[in-house]
Amino acid sequence: MHIPSDLSAYQAGADLLAGKNLLVTGASTGIGRAAALAFAAHGATVILLGRTEGKLTEVYDAIDAAGYPKAAIAPFDLASNDEAAYAALATQLQDHFGSLHGLLHNAGMLGPLKPLSQYAANDFQQVLDINLRSNFLLTRALMPILETAGHASVVFTSSSVGRKGRAYWGAYAISKFGVEGMMQVWADELCNTSDVRVNSLNPGATRTAMRRSAYPAEAADANPEPRQIMGAYLYLMGDDSIGVNGQALNARPL
Ligand SMILES: NC(=O)c1ccc[n+]([C@@H]2O[C@H](COP(=O)([O-])OP(=O)(O)OC[C@H]3O[C@@H](n4cnc5c(N)ncnc54)[C@H](OP(=O)(O)O)[C@@H]3O)[C@@H](O)[C@H]2O)c1
Repeated sequence: MHIPSDLSAYQAGADLLAGKNLLVTGASTGIGRAAALAFAAHGATVILLGRTEGKLTEVYDAIDAAGYPKAAIAPFDLASNDEAAYAALATQLQDHFGSLHGLLHNAGMLGPLKPLSQYAANDFQQVLDINLRSNFLLTRALMPILETAGHASVVFTSSSVGRKGRAYWGAYAISKFGVEGMMQVWADELCNTSDVRVNSLNPGATRTAMRRSAYPAEAADANPEPRQIMGAYLYLMGDDSIGVNGQALNARPL
């Protein structure tokens, strides 16, 4: 298994993702929006999942205006614990698309940055629900249509603070440690029975609303824009990463 050392430098062929149906969560803004556009630009039909339909429509329109394959919008609040809603989403996707070739878990929330000793239980629960539980419920619901796709790819979004704990990053850091653990468990469970590969990706510091709220005093241009780190996302969704499974990767060298 060879993995390029600098995934941001990965050069994707123009039709790398042609014929693939890929679902991106949190596709309305930031990294998710950039991933949806990059996947569509390389030929994928992208299912845009998020809770704010108006923002998803803007991404849908941008994909349409660029002449990329028509996207689809899936309004969904990942705070939901309603298993029937996840099952209904899977049924809709199966009816409409048949199979799913890739799932990018990108949506996330930061939550409060404060000492754990002052962290409210409700905040802790909300961050874990959105950043961790939803990743489990969605992966579980969509696994049957991923398994029928042939060489499907699931990508969980991690963070540096999900690989080494850091003071004041609270439930966010803990949720990302959970994401890393879940990635490993899925990867190990699937490796002998399925050709679905499962990996985690740390985007690294990236110029988005989440980064701004974590570091309000940081210079606006201190970090790359989401579109500059898309090499890793394309690599993991495309067939060049077949055989890469259970890996914790970085979108660019740290
Ligand atoms: N930016 C960085 O420096 C950085 C570094 C390491 C890891 N990450 C990770 O990268 C991922 C993307 O981050 P970002 O910086 O692009 O963040 P962002 O700009 O804040 O975007 C977050 C996305 O998640 C969606 N979302 C939040 N709560 C949701 C919910 N309950 N249901 C459905 N969608 C929901 C948001 O939708 P709305 O627009 O509707 O709120 C938005 O599309 C996250 O997992 C984050 O933890 C980011």
